[in-house]
Amino acid sequence: MTRIHRVTGPDDPVIREAAAILLAGGLVAFPTETVYGLGADGLNSEAVARIYAAKGRPATNPMILHVAAVEWSRSLVSQWPEAAQLLAERYWPGPLTLVLPAAATVPAIVRAGGPTVALRCPAHPVAQALLRAVGRPLAAPSANRSQHLSPTLAEHVASSLGEAVDLILDGGPTRAGLESTILDLSGTRPRILRPGPVTPAELTSILGPVDIWEGATAVGARQDAPGMAERHYAPRARLELVDRGAGLTSSAGRVAYVGIGALPALPAGVRGVLLPLNAEAVAAQLYALLHELDGAGFELIVMERPPEGEAWLAVQDRLQRASAKELA
Ligand code: TXA
Ligand code: MG
Repeated sequence: MTRIHRVTGPDDPVIREAAAILLAGGLVAFPTETVYGLGADGLNSEAVARIYAAKGRPATNPMILHVAAVEWSRSLVSQWPEAAQLLAERYWPGPLTLVLPAAATVPAIVRAGGPTVALRCPAHPVAQALLRAVGRPLAAPSANRSQHLSPTLAEHVASSLGEAVDLILDGGPTRAGLESTILDLSGTRPRILRPGPVTPAELTSILGPVDIWEGATAVGARQDAPGMAERHYAPRARLELVDRGAGLTSSAGRVAYVGIGALPALPAGVRGVLLPLNAEAVAAQLYALLHELDGAGFELIVMERPPEGEAWLAVQDRLQRASAKELA
């Protein structure tokens, strides 16, 4: 069994041990403020290849490099525009990933062969301590099998990746619960590739107009390559979205109904779950709830669509992807 170590704090001796595993080319899962990441030495191509294998991730899907501080970025990019500096000063460490022209030092496998690199400085004390102990950037996608739900608990990592990870650092439940906002600064205009905890309005207040990419495929310029389906972040159970207050008239099989703000009367035998009418709170709980319902063997999860509005954009996006029909 993969070892799960409950980390007592940034001074826990396990951090040194984890750093040694990473420097030797191994894989360590660690908590961030968004979701758990599956880390490898980001400058070691063989180590990064192990991440692709462990996740079953297509080689066309690039990885985020995690850094401990803004200064670490300089050697990883060929340009560091004013916009990146302003955003890093304001949001790092925090849940904002920046896509920039890559320096030649970034292995091709991290970039999936493309010209850009995604950089993120995580705010979690365990992630920070680990990065500083390693002293090198860590490549880290979410610590789940490709196209499955992202993990917000160490147990989610263990059940999704099992033996493929050398060590799992358990930092308890992650705070934000959804993946970072990804902003592409490599083009002529800033463009949000994945909505997340940092909202378009926040980015616009610093940068001026920001585009939101609404591609049918998942995040990333190279994601329309074979293997990348629209379906993503998905539970095993079928997920259907309905209007708020719609309720259910009948049910067959094991069904859960997730209401937002209120729970309508439900047929006997349907498990009702009430989420608050608060975007941050729903984001924090969403994946853990879907993991739990999946684990409990529900075949159908009927969930109310969140309200319109920018605050709900990230939740909206993940639900859309999780409920999309599997592509051939
Ligand atoms: O919150 C997060 O961002 C988490 C934690 C662990 O940091 N990480 C995460 O990584 O969500 P991952 O690999 O599951 O999702 C990163 C997304 C992928 O969809 C990938 O295609 C995109 O970022 N991406 C990575 N590098 C890119 C690049 N150079 N250009 C465009 N998209 C990129
Ligand atoms: Mg992911």
